[in-house]
Amino acid sequence: MNLPEAPGEFAGELLAWFEGAARPLPWRVMPADRARGVRPDPYGVWLSEIMLQQTTIAHGTRYWLDFTRRWPNVQALAGAEDSAVMAAWAGLGYYARARNLLKCARQVAASGGRFPQTARGLQALPGIGPYTAGAIAAIAFGQRAPAVDGNVDRVMARLLALEGPWPEQKKQIADSIERLVPADRPGEFAEAMMDLGATICTPKRANCLVCPVTRFCAARRRGGAERYPIKPAKAKKPVRRGAVLVLEAGGRVRLETRPEKGLLGGMLALPTTEWTGQASDAGAGVNALAGALGADRSTLSRIGEVRHVFTHFHLTLDVWRAGAPAADGGDWRAPEAVSGLPSVFAKAFRLAYPSSPISAR
Ligand code: ADE
Repeated sequence: MNLPEAPGEFAGELLAWFEGAARPLPWRVMPADRARGVRPDPYGVWLSEIMLQQTTIAHGTRYWLDFTRRWPNVQALAGAEDSAVMAAWAGLGYYARARNLLKCARQVAASGGRFPQTARGLQALPGIGPYTAGAIAAIAFGQRAPAVDGNVDRVMARLLALEGPWPEQKKQIADSIERLVPADRPGEFAEAMMDLGATICTPKRANCLVCPVTRFCAARRRGGAERYPIKPAKAKKPVRRGAVLVLEAGGRVRLETRPEKGLLGGMLALPTTEWTGQASDAGAGVNALAGALGADRSTLSRIGEVRHVFTHFHLTLDVWRAGAPAADGGDWRAPEAVSGLPSVFAKAFRLAYPSSPISAR
């Protein structure tokens, strides 16, 4: 069966599968409850979609539960301190998302606390792109809106056995999804496509034997669904180096808040050198950094290194420790009381304080 000729049958069979296979996610209203008229809370749906960009369900869910416990609705989040939200976001990455999350919450709260119900209205809010707008409009408001993320790209590229330049494939995916989304259950359709991509039609294995829509799949007919999607190879990320300093005085450790603009903007951090291409720069840099912070440089010792992957580069950080004569000037804290460090600094922090609470994440 060719997918473009049977949009209704495809949606029907996908939804029938979803009724038994939907993952119970805390922001999700399960199909049986939807059938009884229960609708999801738009705030919870919005929060989940922002958090799950670039994050696994397992990791994102813990944050979603923490956020909704502390800030149960959009007004509560809008009234939160910026620093509390940034600290609660620590470890989720892509910190511009957290700043936009707050901006968006405040904008929605200021206009009565209700989210716009259409994809177009949602997309006018901070931090909401076409995918997120479509997902919220469909899942929370039952709008017939497409929601195409990386999982859906892969599933569609396989169903249609797409070839050719990736931008052309993306256009075909967008056109096809427009036609496939059913008018009566668009939210469940979006969720079902996501779950299919996450649990069956996965990047390395297509698991066609258990796929509920295998009879519509052109890639499967051609033998080898895993050959798709056919995409240009990703460029290799450059490697940067740097050094961080765990500076201690009187049982306390020196922390900093990063400038608002730029990488990890507004987040709590350890003092660090610039992150450049050269290992030797980092070695010289840590001496200068220690000097500038009033460290006793004779106590400088290297305690290890940590690695972290950012969107555009790989980072290797040497971790150094030193003492200072006094905890004067700046932000000094007891190591056991430190929380809210983004992952790269949390990794370095754990090397110095293996039993601190931050190491439990
Ligand atoms: N990934 C992103 N959003 C999702 C959702 N609503 N359901 C399942 N997986 C998702």
